[in-house]
Amino acid sequence: MFTSSPPPLIGVNFPYPRTDTSEVGDMDVLQSFLFVPADSSRKMTSARNLHPDAFIYDLEDAVPIANKHEARHLLTGELNSFINPGPKIFIRVNGFGSTFFGDDLRAVVRREVSGIVLPKCNDASQIAQVHQELSRLENQMSMPEGSVKIITILEGAKGVSLAGEIARSSSRIIALFFGAEDFCADMGITRSKDGDEIGVARSLVALAAKSERLEAIDGPFTDFHDRVGLFEETRRVKKMGFTGKALIHPNQIETVHQAMAPSDEEIALAHEIVSAFENSGGGVTAVRGKMIDEPVVVQARKVLKQNARERKA
Ligand code: COA
Ligand code: MG
Repeated sequence: MFTSSPPPLIGVNFPYPRTDTSEVGDMDVLQSFLFVPADSSRKMTSARNLHPDAFIYDLEDAVPIANKHEARHLLTGELNSFINPGPKIFIRVNGFGSTFFGDDLRAVVRREVSGIVLPKCNDASQIAQVHQELSRLENQMSMPEGSVKIITILEGAKGVSLAGEIARSSSRIIALFFGAEDFCADMGITRSKDGDEIGVARSLVALAAKSERLEAIDGPFTDFHDRVGLFEETRRVKKMGFTGKALIHPNQIETVHQAMAPSDEEIALAHEIVSAFENSGGGVTAVRGKMIDEPVVVQARKVLKQNARERKA
């Protein structure tokens, strides 16, 4: 299952950023991103047998200051030894302004790594600088320029309010990630289970992402024993336009995939809508007492396509 032979170059050929507006919500996306603390050999070893869509090896907040150097060293060793061939690999580096950032970036630009996850993004000009530094490191490593992607975490009031500008700051950005815990701390608000207090911020991040044809990833649900709560939260953010969810524990992977998949009811309704529209010769019609026209049919077809993809996977 695992290989130590040279890995394929996986940083390129992402289905996104999109080039065509009709593609939003219409293509394969990464739904589950499992954080793995890079100072834990035990968890990195567990990860070898796990199958989320992507890993985010963490050098930032899961790692105490005293372990930063050791974590980078352990992660490099792990990437040298084993590559789990399925999930894509991302690495959350320490923040741009931190003393660890330069060493983190030098350690992560390598062919197995699809991209970096950049925390606490509050400033588009900093991302432009990170973009340049990645280009320099890619050249040094004889990697194609632009192959290392960026997922930006918007987790401060400033970052969220500048979401659109940040989304446009680098062609490497493939997704915006909403970080609720830091956002609440920055705002001085306490996070509740239903998430009313973060609804607007979440929506702004999803909107900015979709407006730039990027994916939107919601941060983790921290109560990792509560699968019902995770399912409900994932469904809620899916309705807001999020296509991915970060995870902290392996037992969350399956729940997120179930919640991101269209429900039986959504699939049945989508079939009815598409066939009613086709039977009407492409004009306006009605299903279950509601008017059906072109955009409703476009969305119904997306639901059926997503269902077909997930049944194949
Ligand atoms: N990645 C990979 N494997 C993990 C894992 C993770 N995030 N979390 C748990 N596991 C593995 C453990 O190694 C263990 O396997 P093992 O017995 O073969 O070693 C198994 O899953 C069960 O772990 P469990 O005992 O239930 O978890 P825990 O109490 O040791 O740890 C957490 C709980 C929350 C501390 C842990 O899941 C974790 O560190 N999560 C990630 C935290 C993080 O990265 N935060 C930053 C982003 S918000
Ligand atoms: Mg954070």
